[in-house]
Amino acid sequence: MTPDELVNAAAKARNNAVAPYSRFKVGAALATKAGEIIVGINVESASYGLTCCGERVALFNALTAGKNDFMAVAIVARCDGGPMPCGACRQLLAEYAPEAKVYVADANDLKTIRTFTVGELLPKAFVAVP
Ligand code: THU
Repeated sequence: MTPDELVNAAAKARNNAVAPYSRFKVGAALATKAGEIIVGINVESASYGLTCCGERVALFNALTAGKNDFMAVAIVARCDGGPMPCGACRQLLAEYAPEAKVYVADANDLKTIRTFTVGELLPKAFVAVP
């Protein structure tokens, strides 16, 4: 799975984003180590606080399907340099996809991909005591 393939999958999913309030459409795509792709989009609510980010929808979608071994996640939105995941999504990535590479790209420039590790995005993450 190349970064380009995963970014393209996130961009395609983004077409289904439900963002009538912010108009900021986000697509995300998770790659499993087995080579599968699971996508997510942001879904907004008239009760704004209920909105869920695209990365989290992708993660919940994947976990629901029993996938939990991730090698990368791509996030695409129309913003310069690509969208950096919010703090809440960073926390969930740290918990459920700690080894994943994070690719971000501007929807208008899918060929320019910035790559991060989850550890770079959320150093010293909170981990619950089992
Ligand atoms: N959003 C995401 O989907 N991912 C992020 O990491 C940050 C923000 C969404 C939430 C909301 O629908 C819109 O972008 C504007 O905040």
